[in-house]
Amino acid sequence: MSTTPSSNANSESPVTVTRLRGMKADGEKIVMLTAYDASFAVQLNDAGVHVVLVGDSLGMVIQGQQTTVPVTIEDVLYHTACVAGSSGRMLVVADMPFMSFRDVDTALENASRLMQEGGAHMVKLEGGQHVLPVVEALAQHGIPVCGHIGLQPQSIHKLGGYRVQGREPEMADALLAEAQAMEKAGADIILMECVPASLAARITAALAVPTIGIGAGPDCDGQVLVLYDLLGITPGHRPRFARDFLTNDPTASDIPAALRAYVKAVTEGSFPGSEHSFS
Ligand code: KIV
Repeated sequence: MSTTPSSNANSESPVTVTRLRGMKADGEKIVMLTAYDASFAVQLNDAGVHVVLVGDSLGMVIQGQQTTVPVTIEDVLYHTACVAGSSGRMLVVADMPFMSFRDVDTALENASRLMQEGGAHMVKLEGGQHVLPVVEALAQHGIPVCGHIGLQPQSIHKLGGYRVQGREPEMADALLAEAQAMEKAGADIILMECVPASLAARITAALAVPTIGIGAGPDCDGQVLVLYDLLGITPGHRPRFARDFLTNDPTASDIPAALRAYVKAVTEGSFPGSEHSFS
């Protein structure tokens, strides 16, 4: 068995932050998906996924935890290295787990490890105004950053539940201001989780950097899902914004076909539909 990406996928040029900006400018949708191991990394690359996220969702789908809070930098490092070696032309984004970016020095130390030891090309961190100094420092040191706003699962115990963020007008304005501040601080992508579709569209239009949505409607520059939600094998509750492409897509009879169906649906703009979005 080989986990080497197919020659077809390898022959395409690598996905870079410059290319992602170009895709936004050209109105070409960005396809992002999580993976945690080499075998799935190869499948994602072959299916045409642009960006692979080694998310701290691994706490739930790999480790069986209740939340992402117990995930450590060693956990993300291990899975990033598993993915990066077989990522082909995809851009590899590694999640910075709970408390791993609590101050600038800690963030620089952990982001360096994810890139040098893990092979990541970009790091993702949850937060708003309070993480701006960290985003700025990472960017100044040449570390590409994906800012994660809206619902922030690492703060679940503070939030008290998984809820749509930014429904009230003042919260919507605050989220827009947060996204703009992140861009100004040097973020290369803004990921929005569980925000009303109209707000996500407004934020997308206001930014030069690409936005990626999950539960943020169809007008983001790209979409991301947790791989195991897409395959319908996440234990327990499946979020409303997720679609099981293995069971529900008539063209998908196996995992590679389900991944291709996801790539096609995002590229064409048929996913997410209104049933996966919030108002
Ligand atoms: O950890 C994760 O998988 C995420 C999702 C938003 C895709 O952050």
